[in-house]
Amino acid sequence: MKIAPSILAIQMNRFSQQMDELNQSSAEWIHIDIMDGHFVPNLSYGPHVVKGLRSSSHKFFDVHLMVSDPIFYANAFIKAGADAITFHVEALKKEEIVPFIHQLHQQGVKVGISIKPATPVSAIEEYLSLVDIVLVMSVEPGFGGQSFMPMALDKIEQLARRSENFEIEVDGGIDQETGYLCKEKGATVLVAGSYIFKGKIEERVQSLR
Ligand code: DX5
Ligand code: ZN
Repeated sequence: MKIAPSILAIQMNRFSQQMDELNQSSAEWIHIDIMDGHFVPNLSYGPHVVKGLRSSSHKFFDVHLMVSDPIFYANAFIKAGADAITFHVEALKKEEIVPFIHQLHQQGVKVGISIKPATPVSAIEEYLSLVDIVLVMSVEPGFGGQSFMPMALDKIEQLARRSENFEIEVDGGIDQETGYLCKEKGATVLVAGSYIFKGKIEERVQSLR
């Protein structure tokens, strides 16, 4: 099980302290939520922030693009140091998806595809053999601190039945209890924001694992 703390929940008045704690923790990934105020009704940060974090972190940067134009923004985040770019299937036209996945791979990053709660697994069926990560949203994207939606468990189970070799990542409302349910269904990466940053980071990472 990989643990991917979402820095959306980092305490801004203790930013560098929590960032140091996170970098020294056993979390494998750092989940970075990018919001454009259009695909979701909230704003977060741009490539400049990611570049700054990159200079003091060796963790795998898992960049989750909640933006309406991922094709336009991906390059800037790759340049800034993303290790994986995850985009939403809902943001693109069907004919754009496969070329975009290939383009990202050519740029040397892992590729993730994400589905919102209302989007079924069947909507990404044809891309499952092409991607490295499938990100199942277990809350409506846009804000941290929401409650886990159990319907995500069915999607995880459907994905886990596939023979392709992608990570099954789940994002939203993850704590010790919901994380365990996801693991049982076959999730391989747990994203957690509030749960991790409300406590001692390494303790919370361990308890999720
Ligand atoms: C929601 C984001 C999540 C969020 C998770 O739009 O994609 O990564 O930060 O936060 P928690 O763990 O607090 O639900
Ligand atoms: Zn996210």
